[in-house]
Amino acid sequence: MSNVSPTVLSRIGRHLHRLPGHPLAITKRLIESYFGDPRTFPPCEERGCRPHHVQALDDLPPVVTPQANFDALCFPPDHPGRARSDTYYVNAEHLLRTHTSAHQHDALRSHQAAGYLISADVYRRDEIDASHYPVFHQTEGIYTMGPAWQQAVIAAAPGPVDLQPLAGRPTWIHAGNPIQGVHDPRVSLAVGQHLRDALEGLVRHVFGAAAEAKRDASPAPAAAPGVPIQPASAMPATDLPMRWIEGSFPFTSPSWELEVFWEGQWLELLGCGVVQQSIMDRAGLSDHVGWAFGIGLERLAMVMFGIPDIRYFWSEDERFLSQFADGRVRRFVPYSRYPVCYKDVSFWRPAAGFEENALAEITREVAGDSVERLECIDTFTHPKTGRTSMCYRVHYRHMDRTLTNAEVDAWQAQIAARMAQELGVEIRG
Ligand code: PHE
Repeated sequence: MSNVSPTVLSRIGRHLHRLPGHPLAITKRLIESYFGDPRTFPPCEERGCRPHHVQALDDLPPVVTPQANFDALCFPPDHPGRARSDTYYVNAEHLLRTHTSAHQHDALRSHQAAGYLISADVYRRDEIDASHYPVFHQTEGIYTMGPAWQQAVIAAAPGPVDLQPLAGRPTWIHAGNPIQGVHDPRVSLAVGQHLRDALEGLVRHVFGAAAEAKRDASPAPAAAPGVPIQPASAMPATDLPMRWIEGSFPFTSPSWELEVFWEGQWLELLGCGVVQQSIMDRAGLSDHVGWAFGIGLERLAMVMFGIPDIRYFWSEDERFLSQFADGRVRRFVPYSRYPVCYKDVSFWRPAAGFEENALAEITREVAGDSVERLECIDTFTHPKTGRTSMCYRVHYRHMDRTLTNAEVDAWQAQIAARMAQELGVEIRG
């Protein structure tokens, strides 16, 4: 019943996000420090919130039920995320959480605080490349507002809201990304605004630290005569372009994604939205409204620290870890890596179809983290027989030593044998 590979299993309990001096822990702490400080995330208790307090949780166990990971979050029964091709099942009743949202319900139901931050390792069967790894980390944020806050919003904006002008804006409110029917539109809009203000502030806080690290890493620019050198202060808001785009999550409506323009490109950072009221209701908070977001820590840490490959986070090499021992955001200084080696395997695809994730799993089971990347380099359909041939290239590299040709050949032979046996393909070479 279990489809959890040994490599993935060996990652459970590493708690990278709790290791002092690890880039993921530093990134997590930066998020926590923003929400924990009333100067950066001001309390709204004067408007009737429960006592302002954000509780940070980071040691919730990774095995949860499909109920917590999907059902409690309004995922439909046929949602593809539930499939065994996407999710690691421990047995029929338990799985490795695919996102930190799996803990939303329990956090809300605890009635401990107005807001929660939940940081944890999450697990998804996925492709293999420099930015994807089947285990990664997320921080979830949830914030709730009570009846007095909602009444103040309504009192400040008497009369119905005209949603028509908003509906014309694709990233805002429209039929496909609606305000929930149970919500007063004024309240939902105010929750959305509170969410956007909070998250734009978070992004400035985090990228301000990243910009500072970049300045520290680059030599001071020579001053042009008569032009004073800019002091290394926090980056002004206007220097960091952000954009809100429409999102879609079963557990929020409306939903958005936030992107930031960093080092020449738009970077998708986080998903968020107004929490489905049924989730608040089930947590015993039917008189509250709330927002939630989820952010991937690896993606964020890779750009902040300039770390080029997601597998570095798992390295136990001192040349990596010692660089961040002081717990600060700083630019990663590359050290020489061991060489890459690749091997191709071509095969006839079975009539029933072929799943790349299943191949990714096999390569990981055979060669562990030495598989750096899996790349489809050729596909063609034979004109007469109609059969399709595919060729995959497996890139091998060890983080901490040089691989020998003999061990790579042995892995490749094992992979081919298992492909024939488990995926029903006919190996061509
Ligand atoms: N759980 C979502 C994901 O993993 C992110 C999210 C969290 C979106 C909370 C909305 C609210 O993609």
